Order: sequence, then structure tokens, then C-alpha cells
Amino acid sequence: MNEKISLTGIKPSGTPHIGNYLGMIRPALALAKEYRAYYFIADYHALTTLKDGKELRRLSYDLTATFLALGMNPDDVVFFRQSDVPEIFELTWILSCFTPKGLLNRAHAYKAAVDANLAAGHDPDAGINAGLFNYPVLMAADILLYGSHVVPVGQDQKQHIEITRDIASAMNHTYGEEIFVLPEGLIQPEVAVIPGIDGRKMSKSYDNVIPIFAPPKQLRKRVMQIVTDSRPIEQPKNPDEDNVYNIYKYFATPEQDKAMREKYLRGGFGYGEVKQELFELLEAHFAGPREKYNAYMADTKKLEAILMEGAKKARYQGAKVMKRARRAVGVRYKDR
Ligand code: ADP
Ligand code: TRP
Repeated sequence: MNEKISLTGIKPSGTPHIGNYLGMIRPALALAKEYRAYYFIADYHALTTLKDGKELRRLSYDLTATFLALGMNPDDVVFFRQSDVPEIFELTWILSCFTPKGLLNRAHAYKAAVDANLAAGHDPDAGINAGLFNYPVLMAADILLYGSHVVPVGQDQKQHIEITRDIASAMNHTYGEEIFVLPEGLIQPEVAVIPGIDGRKMSKSYDNVIPIFAPPKQLRKRVMQIVTDSRPIEQPKNPDEDNVYNIYKYFATPEQDKAMREKYLRGGFGYGEVKQELFELLEAHFAGPREKYNAYMADTKKLEAILMEGAKKARYQGAKVMKRARRAVGVRYKDR
């Protein structure tokens, strides 16, 4: 383990599914063995789109319980909720005074919303809240506050890291000192896209997900709903073109994988049979963690305690940078 800090934020925007598990949660837990990991629930970022308070709170607990159930040790990973670190806003304001407005005009998410409005013949800013516009500055504060060295994110977040570096350099340059560490994006290699039950990318937006911790009956039902072709039983089948196999292979041992491929190429089985095998594999993988997940979800006091402990550590870590930033810009002298 090196002393470098790896930080990433996860938006609590839907019940975690096995696409999230393979594409994000599992790699994040592996990375926590190499770096000092700071992972947080980006609840204020989610607020730009999610306006149901109860649901935001529930999804934040859901994400916390999911990480814990899947093996995250809060003594190794500083796991916290963005909204429990008030310094984030102080820093967001300071940073926004060093952020050219044009830089935000060019941010992908904002630009896409404007383009969609223009294409529909609407006012360019129709329905766009200022939270969405300022999203990249809040994210820069998330990253810079803790002196993060690397930020593991997907390709879609690359521009946000570049914006963060631009803002940090502008402020370092203005005051002629290294107030902020310039973070590096650790762009996750494109994890193969896990298909959903309809064969498109598994995504909460398509209502095609297999939730990680669905109860066994529901899990089995979802697996049985996976779309397959209509080849008859005796015909050989191509595993690489089949949605069931394309989930199965991520959970199988090399031996199981080999046997399954041979079975497809041989033919002589129905899809119901391989779906049952996939269900059993998922059940073997997640039944234990599901019990832990349910226990955590039934004990939100415990989740709160873990999150508060994480926030305490995060605020302690953020204090140094915050002091440097306040001193440089000339505010809150008494708190130096
Ligand atoms: P969703 O597509 O359900 O809205 P998000 O966009 O919130 O999920 O993604 C959260 C994380 O999970 C990202 O790191 C993303 O790369 C990963 N992820 C989501 N869906 C998949 C998938 N089908 N295959 C692989 N990774 C995925
Ligand atoms: N914007 C990120 C996403 O949509 C979430 C996020 C918020 C984040 N703050 C961050 C990621 C800081 C990395 C670092 O996925």
C-alpha cells in the first residue's frame, strides 16, 4: 500500500445492480488495497436530478450497506457522505471565483442539455438548474479538499478531472504556491458492458437490471426473464452472442466457464437450464453478502455511525488544504 490518496464519489441514484458491481464496486474495492482510499456518496450531486428526500436518504444507506456487505472494511477505506463535510461548500465557492464561466459552458452534461433544448426549439437553458451548471465545481472541491492524487472514474468523467486540474492550477498560479495537489484521473479500462435482461446495457434507466441483493425468488424471476434467441434445444448455440452466458462468465470459475462454453457449442439443452445455472451461481455469490446487507439496512443507526466516523476522518484530512486556501485568498483569519 502506498501513501497516495485515491478518491472517488458515487452518486446514489438507483438500487445497485450487478452491472454496477462488476463495473465499479469490485474494482473500487480492489484499488483500496493499493491506495489510501477515500470513497464517498455524492448525495449533493444526486440532488441535481433527484428531488425526493426520502428516496435520496434511502439510496445513500443502500449504497453504504452494499459496500459494507461486499467486504469493504471501514477501517481501511474512509467511507463517508459528501453532505457531512460542510467545508465542501466553502471550497466550492472559493473555487468558483477562479472558474471561467466559459469552462462550465463547455462541460459535457450542461452542453448536452443545452443542445437538446435547442434541437427542440426551446430556450437554451429551459429546465436546467444552476446545480447542474455548477456540478463540475462541486466535483473539483470534492477532489481537491483531501489532496487526492488519483481519481478512479469512468471515461465519461474524464472532462471533470481536466476541469478540476484547470481550476486548481489557476488558483495555485494566482497565489504562487501549491495550495492544491493536481490530481490524475485513473480512467478505468472500459469494463465490458454487462447486458441487462433485455440484452441492452444493464442500466437503471432501462429498467432491465438484476439487483445485487434481490431476494432469491425475485432474483430467479429476473434471471428467467433474460432474453434469448429461439433456437430449439438440440441446436448448438453461440455463447458469445447469448445474454445468459455473457453474465455467467463473470461469475464462473475457469472450469465452470469452460464446461459452459462446451455445452453451448454442443447444443442439446434449453435456455431454462442455463438460466437456472446462472441463478445458482449468483445465489452462491451473493447469498452471504445479502444477509449482511439486510442486517445493515435494518440498522440505519449503525450505518449512520459508520458514515459519521468516515466524515470525521475526511474532515480531518481536509482541514490542511482548507487552511491553505483560506490563508491564500485572505478569509477567516481567526481560524488559521
Ligand atoms: P446506470 O447505468 O444503472 O445508471 P451508473 O451510470 O450510475 O449506472 O453507473 C455507476 C457505475 O457502474 C459506473 O462506474 C458504471 O461504469 C458502472 N456500470 C453501470 N452499468 C454497467 C454495466 N452494464 N456494465 C458495466 N459497468 C456498469
Ligand atoms: N460525477 C461523478 C459521477 O457521476 C460522481 C462524483 C462526484 C465524483 N464527485 C466526485 C467522482 C469526485 C470522482 C471524484 O459518477
